[in-house]
Amino acid sequence: MSILNVLAIFGTRPEAIKMAPLVKELERHPDQIRCSVAVTAQHREMLDQVLELFRITPAYDLNIMLPNQTLYEITTRALTGLGEILDEAAPDIVLVHGDTTTTFVAGLAAFYRQIKVGHVEAGLRTGNKYSPFPEEMNRRLTGAIADIHFAPTVTAKSNLLKEGVNPESILVTGNTVIDALLATVKDSYAFNNPVLDAIDYTKSRVLVVTTHRRENLGEPMRNVYGALRAVVEKHSDVEVVFPVHKNPKIRQIVESVLGGLPRVHLIDPLEYAPMVNLMNKAYLVLTDSGGLQEEAPSLGKPVLVLRDTTERPEAIDAGTVQMVGTNRDAIFNACQTLLEDRTQYDKMANAVNPYGDGKACARIAAGLKYFCNLGGSKPREFITQ
Ligand code: UD1
Ligand code: UDP
Repeated sequence: MSILNVLAIFGTRPEAIKMAPLVKELERHPDQIRCSVAVTAQHREMLDQVLELFRITPAYDLNIMLPNQTLYEITTRALTGLGEILDEAAPDIVLVHGDTTTTFVAGLAAFYRQIKVGHVEAGLRTGNKYSPFPEEMNRRLTGAIADIHFAPTVTAKSNLLKEGVNPESILVTGNTVIDALLATVKDSYAFNNPVLDAIDYTKSRVLVVTTHRRENLGEPMRNVYGALRAVVEKHSDVEVVFPVHKNPKIRQIVESVLGGLPRVHLIDPLEYAPMVNLMNKAYLVLTDSGGLQEEAPSLGKPVLVLRDTTERPEAIDAGTVQMVGTNRDAIFNACQTLLEDRTQYDKMANAVNPYGDGKACARIAAGLKYFCNLGGSKPREFITQ
C-alpha cells in the first residue's frame, strides 16, 4: 500500500500549539502516513517555544518574520517560499490550521500546485469580514480552497454547510487545542518561574490577561489596560499576570499604561505549559485571544472576551464566557461583578467542554485515511456534551 505524504504548514504560536498534537498523532501511523512540517516562521520566538516543547523539528523553515511586519510582507514572503518548498516536498496533501495569514497563503500555495488541502479548525465565522481582521477573511478564503474540512464543532460545520460546502467533505472533530491542554495541565504543576512562584494562589485572585488583535491596537487596548489599572487599584487581593505579546506596538502601550504598577506582572510570553497551568490556578481570564476562549472554559475559568465579535459562540451559550468588548467602563464593571458577587462568579465558573474531548487528533488521523482512500470508514463525529 502506498504511503500518504502529508505536509503540515504553520507559522504562528497558536497554529503550532494546535497542530503539534496532530503531527505527533500522524507520526503514530508510519505504515500509512509520512508527516513532515514546514514553518513560515511568521512568528519566531513564540513559534520556537512551541516547537521545542513538543520536540518538532521542521523539515523546512522560511524564517520570514520581520519586526512590525505588514500583511503584504507576510503574504508575499510566505507565498514565494512555500511554492519552492512544495516543489521539493511534493506532498499528496497539505494540512493548514485556522485563520492566520500563513494559513491562507499555505492553502493558496498548495492550490497553485493543485495539491489537496485539509483545513484543521475549519468553519469558524463571525460574519464580519473586518472582525477579526484579517482572520475572518483568511479562514473564509482557506475554506474556499480546502478539499477536506476538519470542523471543531457542530456550529462550525453548519457555517460551512450554509456556504454550500459538500457535507461529505466535512468531519466534526473537536478542537486539537483540547488534546494539547489535557496532556499538559496538572494540578501538581510547578512553574519554576520567579514571578509565578512568588504568587500565593490561595490568597491572591489572579487575573490572566492577553491581548494581540490587530483591530484592538491603539485606543481599544489603552481602554482595556485603563480598566485593569482601576480594578487593581480597587482590589488589594488582585494580581494581574500579563504575558505580553512580542509585537512592539502592543508592548509600548502596555508599558505606558500598566508599567510599574504594584501587583501587575508584565512578563514575556510564557511557554505553553506554564501558560495553561497558570490559567488553571487563575480566578479570571481577560483576553482577545481565540485559543484562550477555548482553553479557559475547559478549566472552569470565567472569561471576559475583549472583542466585539467572536467566532466561538459555544462557551458564551454555555455561560462561561462573556463578550465585554473594549469599553473601559464595561470591562471594569464586568470585573467588579465577578470579584464581588460570588453567585455570579460561580455561575460562570463551570467546567464545560464545548470545544473538544481530547480525541480530535485521533479523529483527524482516521479522517485523513478515510478521505484519502487509505481505508477505514468515516470516523464518528465529536458531539458537544
Ligand atoms: C498573528 C496572526 C493572528 C494570530 C496571532 C497569534 C496574522 C495576520 N495574524 O498575529 O491571526 O491570532 O498571530 O498570536 O496572521 N513578533 C516577534 N516575535 C514573535 C512573534 C511576533 O517579535 O515570536 C512581533 C514582530 O515584530 C511581528 C509582530 O510581532 O512583526 C506581529 O506579528 P504578526 O504575526 O504579524 O501578528 P500577530 O499580531 O502576532
Ligand atoms: N499562549 C502561550 N503563552 C502565552 C500566551 C498564550 O502559550 O504567553 C497560548 C495559549 O495557551 C493558547 C495560544 O497560545 O493555546 C493562543 O495563542 P494567541 O492568543 O497568540 O492566538 P489566537 O488563539 O488568538 O490565534
